[in-house]
Amino acid sequence: MAAFLRILGIETSCDETAAAIVVRHEDGRGEILSDVVFSQLDEHSAYGGVVPEIAARAHVEALDGLIEEALSRAGVSLDEIDAVAATSGPGLIGGLIVGLMTAKAIARATGKPLMAINHLEGHALTARLTDGLSFPYLMLLVSGGHTQLVLVRGVGDYERWGTTIDDALGEAFDKTAKLLGLPYPGGPAVEKAALTGNPDRFQLPRPLVGEARLDFSFSGLKTAVRQAATEIAPLSEQDIADICASFQKAISRTLRDRIGRGLARFAKEFGHLDVGPALVVAGGVAANQEIRRTLQALCIEHGFRFIAPPMKLCTDNAAMIAWAGLERLAEDMPFDGMDVAPRSRWPLDANAQTLLGSGKRGAKA
Ligand code: KG4
Ligand code: ZN
Repeated sequence: MAAFLRILGIETSCDETAAAIVVRHEDGRGEILSDVVFSQLDEHSAYGGVVPEIAARAHVEALDGLIEEALSRAGVSLDEIDAVAATSGPGLIGGLIVGLMTAKAIARATGKPLMAINHLEGHALTARLTDGLSFPYLMLLVSGGHTQLVLVRGVGDYERWGTTIDDALGEAFDKTAKLLGLPYPGGPAVEKAALTGNPDRFQLPRPLVGEARLDFSFSGLKTAVRQAATEIAPLSEQDIADICASFQKAISRTLRDRIGRGLARFAKEFGHLDVGPALVVAGGVAANQEIRRTLQALCIEHGFRFIAPPMKLCTDNAAMIAWAGLERLAEDMPFDGMDVAPRSRWPLDANAQTLLGSGKRGAKA
């Protein structure tokens, strides 16, 4: 292997268009030379969610410029990179096509190898870029499209321990916000409203709490919020704050139970680790302070390190895609051919069962 490897990463799976240049030094350390993200939030907010067609068109418009920007900020030319990595699933197919085809064109024109990357693998390996974490560890991905607890055993070696059987956690925040008349995206709006609310006013359900399996369910919670809101309508600002605070409390309690069981299972299976066990969090919902506090406290209780990469690297970005490509290159994993196809569905753990209703949106990751 060369003294270092330098790679261009491209991310277009949902509503962020992103490009990054990342280096992997000989000692395995990663360094982000540039990381540019264009968030399409403004394009979609009027619709209360991501519109696939609009997203794909916006990727087409933004991507070339972002790649130029990433190269120029890193001070490198296309000839000076060793490979091109692009997200090729899971996600919205129109966006994936834009990113992957662009990567193919660059790879073909420059003669550099192409790496088709699983977006979830990007999230899963980020903590190795930011914190140099060693395998194995547990990763909780909580975003608008996914809620998964994954055992990360090695590059390309993942075991899904739990997933949502209905809504993703970010989706539950977004839907709750919508029915309370709060703006999109709902997570930050619900969190803000909850600050002045009474978390004990409404007794909301905590689905699957107490069950041995490590899956999640959030659609019942959303329904309970709707019922509570309907019963006391019209809602005052205080009512909304109380519902939001009660909603967050129910979620925190649910996560305590589910993730607590996951940590206990990890400790049982990997009790012999030289370095202490660790839980990594990823995805937009990781921005939520109450959820962070809950996970942090849980990790302290169980003797785990709690690793939350900077928010810019927790949400969708291209540095994580570049890094996943570098990890694959370093392991001498095969390149992808020009015939590689984007996949709207692409589970990290090929052996995990598809759960009824899970990821039905199948789009956001
Ligand atoms: O990872 P992300 O930026 O995008 C994808 O889902 O791909 O996650 C976005 C999700 C949205 O559902 C949003 O409401 C949620 O993360 N979110 C939050 C917060 N900030 C963003 N949820 C709860 N609390 C927050 N502060
Ligand atoms: Zn994501």
